[in-house]
Amino acid sequence: MDYLINILIILLVIFVIKLVLIWVFFYADVRAAQKRDPAAKSFLEVILLYPGLHALIYHRAAHFFYRLKLFFLARSLSQIARFFTGIEIHPGAIIGKRFFIDHGFGVVIGETAIIGDDVLLYQGSTLGGTGIIQGKRHPTVGNNVVIGAGAKVLGNIVIGDNSYIGANAVVVKDVPPNSTVIGVPGRITKQDGKKMDISLDHARILDPIMQAIEELQDRIKNLEKK
Ligand SMILES: CC(C)(COP(=O)(O)OP(=O)(O)OC[C@H]1O[C@@H](n2cnc3c(N)ncnc32)[C@H](O)[C@@H]1OP(=O)(O)O)[C@@H](O)C(=O)NCCC(=O)NCCS
Repeated sequence: MDYLINILIILLVIFVIKLVLIWVFFYADVRAAQKRDPAAKSFLEVILLYPGLHALIYHRAAHFFYRLKLFFLARSLSQIARFFTGIEIHPGAIIGKRFFIDHGFGVVIGETAIIGDDVLLYQGSTLGGTGIIQGKRHPTVGNNVVIGAGAKVLGNIVIGDNSYIGANAVVVKDVPPNSTVIGVPGRITKQDGKKMDISLDHARILDPIMQAIEELQDRIKNLEKK
């Protein structure tokens, strides 16, 4: 019985130490999660139950070992995090302050991705590469960017500060700061708070397939009239 109580006490002490360490070193990240998720009820809830925070904690450690060129150890930590959270962050990725992944499952962040401060990612989003080229092949994401659920941001492109990538968009080109991008392939629909006049801009039409169909319908109508 004494043996069991001793084990319980040791586990409790480890748990409390872990809480204190997270509190001290990840205070800003926990606060960011609370600020950006209206469902977050308390500091403790975020520390204990948010997979995005846990993935980030593992990543900070994995990135430390990656920089020491202990690649196997770094990758092992990243895979443990993936097992528990469903979030795969390559240890080489550089991530800024107050980063938050909401819900988390299915997020993938590639080796050469660079993420600024105050970035929010939703579940299922990917910062990925487009081929098997070596070198910088993943996106650079600016400060205060939101990447919606299921969005894919691919290749060595730059997403400007304060931009919003809509849910399920596929972005393969640079995005200027303060833009909103939606669709496949991603098209800018808002910039600096103003809606883009897409009807006058053929490079940014919202739905090129629909536009082609409408043009064909007009031609058929004209032919029928003749
Ligand atoms: C893109 C987004 C930021 C909205 O931006 P917005 O500029 O405020 O856009 P609006 O709501 O004014 O919509 C503008 C048009 O885009 C369409 N639209 C909005 N989001 C879209 C998306 N992700 N994909 C395709 N079309 C979208 C709207 O239907 C609307 O179309 P309409 O002009 O034909 O009516 C938002 O819809 C989004 O996708 N956020 C992601 C949030 C998320 O992933 N949440 C997960 C929580 S679990």
